[in-house]
Amino acid sequence: MKKHFVIAIDGASSTGKSTLAKGLAKALDLAHVDSGAMYRGITLYAQQNGLLVNNKLNTKALLSQLDDINLYFEGDTFKLNGVDVSTQIRSMQVSEAVSLVATIPEIRSFLVAQQRIIGTNQSVVMDGRDIGTVVFPKADLKLFLVADVNIRVQRRFDELNTQNTTTSVKEVFNNLVERDHLDSTRADSPLVQADDAILLDATQFTVESMLDHVLDLVAKRLG
Ligand code: DC
Repeated sequence: MKKHFVIAIDGASSTGKSTLAKGLAKALDLAHVDSGAMYRGITLYAQQNGLLVNNKLNTKALLSQLDDINLYFEGDTFKLNGVDVSTQIRSMQVSEAVSLVATIPEIRSFLVAQQRIIGTNQSVVMDGRDIGTVVFPKADLKLFLVADVNIRVQRRFDELNTQNTTTSVKEVFNNLVERDHLDSTRADSPLVQADDAILLDATQFTVESMLDHVLDLVAKRLG
């Protein structure tokens, strides 16, 4: 296999990007970077520090504190300034505000720079919205995932329920639709399929058959 390579997986939330990325990383012994966790980490930081209240973001203050925000992946956990926030970043409170934070160009360039360093130093599978278009436009393999909205809602609802929240299906649906809209219409790095990305409809696969299918693609593409 090629010495260094990058697999980019993009798509809307809850289409199964991270599950696929994790499976690929394990099968191919690669690092996995869930770039959405990084946007969520900054959102959580803003909320914890009173910079994001009732969907009103103090952008200037947040930008002035970016150097104080240390985000990193450690095994299966995601840390914000040394604290494991893997569960907290998936809360509804963060989900409702993250797309707003992700529209800010300075925040995007701050995170894109870190994502490029991670993916340059080692082979990675990275998932997000702009990995194949902006972060690694020359990625060795680009995948773009779509899935039926009802299946996405159910996935997200099940994920939240394991955390004992009281969020309703309707709230999850509204949040996904709102985020799809914000993520695909923002001016900087909107969610779009790269010209050379392979489109995969997750609705037509089980988790295992999707992984097998992509491992075949990887073998063909990367040898
Ligand atoms: O994949 P996710 O739902 O955890 O992503 C959370 C938010 O982060 C999503 O609503 C948009 C934003 N995001 C982004 O703008 N660019 C990325 N590469 C990854 C996520």
